[in-house]
Amino acid sequence: MARLKLGVLGSGSGSNMQSIMDAIGAGTLDAEIKIVLSDVKDAYILERAAKGGVENAYLDCSPWKTKLEGEAEDRCISVLKEKGVDTVVLAGFMRIVKPKLLAAFPNRVLNIHPALLPAFPGVASWKQALDYGCKVAGVTVHFVDAGTDSGPIIVQKAVPVAEDDTPETLHARIQVEEHKAFPEALSLLAAGRLSVVGRRVVVAPAD
Ligand code: GRF
Repeated sequence: MARLKLGVLGSGSGSNMQSIMDAIGAGTLDAEIKIVLSDVKDAYILERAAKGGVENAYLDCSPWKTKLEGEAEDRCISVLKEKGVDTVVLAGFMRIVKPKLLAAFPNRVLNIHPALLPAFPGVASWKQALDYGCKVAGVTVHFVDAGTDSGPIIVQKAVPVAEDDTPETLHARIQVEEHKAFPEALSLLAAGRLSVVGRRVVVAPAD
């Protein structure tokens, strides 16, 4: 299968993007990151990209606060297309992406969510799981559809909740699994092993 050409969108520290860069470096993921875009000017994800020699830029998404739409969405799509991106990775991107971007990359936009979906969509999901009293939390990598954290699920990993967990300790333990789950999902995609059938992602056996 052809090497994935990734465009990464993120708003924060970029540890998931780092795990993808590391997997590429280790030769376990056949991909290259063409561009990293952040809606937050001083987000550490941009610095990580620069350190890794990956092209990166700030994407001004105003006037919107919680979504990527309108002129900013158009600019984002143009940059991604210009760079030859075929797969969009939402790595801690704190905005809702809209149908226009999804239509530009059909079934090629992936998100990571720090919960076992469909439980706890939305923000600070690890805290939601803790407050609810869950004994098991986790992480989900999924294709993005027009809903919020609702697209077909590619990979999930469970994380036990400890008696003395705080939101911070649980999130840290979830992040360890995130850093395995995203490269794993992308490797399956790169190997051409994923097909979406209705709500289900069917994973073909390895050769
Ligand atoms: C992760 O917990 C991810 O699941 C969520 O946002 C956080 C991003 O972390 N969508 P990082 O910027 O990759 O370190």
